Amino acid sequence: MLFFKSKPKPSSDDPFFVWFPADHSVGIARFDQDHKRLTDILNRIHETLNEDRDRNRAAKLMEHLIQEIRSHFHQEEAALTEASYPDLENHMAEHQQLLEEANSLLRQFLAGTISGMAFPIFIKNWLIGHMKDSDRKYSACLRRQGER
Ligand SMILES: [Fe+2]
Ligand SMILES: [Fe+2]
Repeated sequence: MLFFKSKPKPSSDDPFFVWFPADHSVGIARFDQDHKRLTDILNRIHETLNEDRDRNRAAKLMEHLIQEIRSHFHQEEAALTEASYPDLENHMAEHQQLLEEANSLLRQFLAGTISGMAFPIFIKNWLIGHMKDSDRKYSACLRRQGER
């Protein structure tokens, strides 16, 4: 019999983005918590657009998500600066690019020139890529400083 915990099969009742440790953990508890919080807000945006069809509320949640992402980036950048992380500059540039793109998508959504889904789809794909690649790269460096 197998005892390892396998990933549950996706179902149509699943939220838009399911944070799963094996796929998305970066190995630092407080940043995993941040990422989970961001995915919760992202799921609320998706629900608001798809089920409630409330564009004003979705726009407010998008603004809120951008603020939360900015604050998460500040926390990561402070920890990486403290740990003298060698790839800090590139990491910060990726953060900056995401914020610019997210703000631009929000402006376009408010202007009615793009569909609401463009925003959550972009953020979801960006977050997955960034967590699995760039954020995981800092894990060993922060763990050497005693972070868990
Ligand atoms: Fe992150
Ligand atoms: Fe990051």
